Amino acid sequence: MHAGKAFLVTGAAGGIGKATALGLTRRGAHVALADIRVDALREAAAELSDAIAVAVDLADPHSIAAAVQSVEARYGRIDGLVNCGAIVMHADPLEVAWVDWERQFRTNLFGAYEASRLVAKAMIAKGVRGAIVNVASEAGKKGHIDSLAYSASKAALINMTRTLSAALAPHDINVNCVCPGGVTTDMLREVALAYGKLVQAPAEDVFNQLISSQLQRRIEPDEVARTISFLLSDDAFIVRGQALNADGGDTPY
Ligand SMILES: NC(=O)c1ccc[n+]([C@@H]2O[C@H](COP(=O)([O-])OP(=O)(O)OC[C@H]3O[C@@H](n4cnc5c(N)ncnc54)[C@H](O)[C@@H]3O)[C@@H](O)[C@H]2O)c1
Repeated sequence: MHAGKAFLVTGAAGGIGKATALGLTRRGAHVALADIRVDALREAAAELSDAIAVAVDLADPHSIAAAVQSVEARYGRIDGLVNCGAIVMHADPLEVAWVDWERQFRTNLFGAYEASRLVAKAMIAKGVRGAIVNVASEAGKKGHIDSLAYSASKAALINMTRTLSAALAPHDINVNCVCPGGVTTDMLREVALAYGKLVQAPAEDVFNQLISSQLQRRIEPDEVARTISFLLSDDAFIVRGQALNADGGDTPY
């Protein structure tokens, strides 16, 4: 499906990012895995057949520029970008520190914008009909009181997706986002730990309750990865500017 194409996946040392990179290489693509956790990143890239590791800090525009440049230099073009890297911080909704707003927005939104902007320019310069997939969250639609700033950053990402989709349509670049929920990754364990503290329940119990009500189980990273792969493909040509839920039916809008 993606034979010969070159993709850049951020957050690729993490659960969903790594599964996405793996799925794309299995479908014939070259993949640049980018993340801030360099050791985990190198390990993840080493496990794949056609992949490179690129260190990046999504909170730093210079670092993003260097990463995009190195991927272009390696593959000569970029056919798709997956903005998957993100952080979540938990706090009382009336006590979110300014600095934590900044950290989450820099990483989750500004980083995704900067990567999208630079990759889109590279695509336009080379006449590539590309795709960008932003990994938002069901939190960006519903909002969670214990991760208010994170939820707001994902809502902004959904909004940015719509606008970039309209802006890039004349260049044949398709922009969508996927909104996962309850996916078995380190981030969900982090969420369970923090929420457990808030409601004074054991993290393991909270983790076990974070399941899709329709499927009665958690979503696996590979399942989100397949949704992302679809959105990167020509099969998604008429799906544009959307925020597609990948949460087992828990978000009805
Ligand atoms: N797991 C879930 O249930 C769930 C639900 C909704 C949305 N999401 C979203 O899915 C995406 C992937 O999350 P995941 O569940 O795989 O979690 P994860 O923690 O396994 O992966 C996130 C990755 O982002 C990287 N990252 C963080 N800050 C970075 C920075 N400054 N620069 C570069 N990389 C950075 C981390 O090192 C990590 O590898 C995130 O955008 C997250 O918000 C996850």
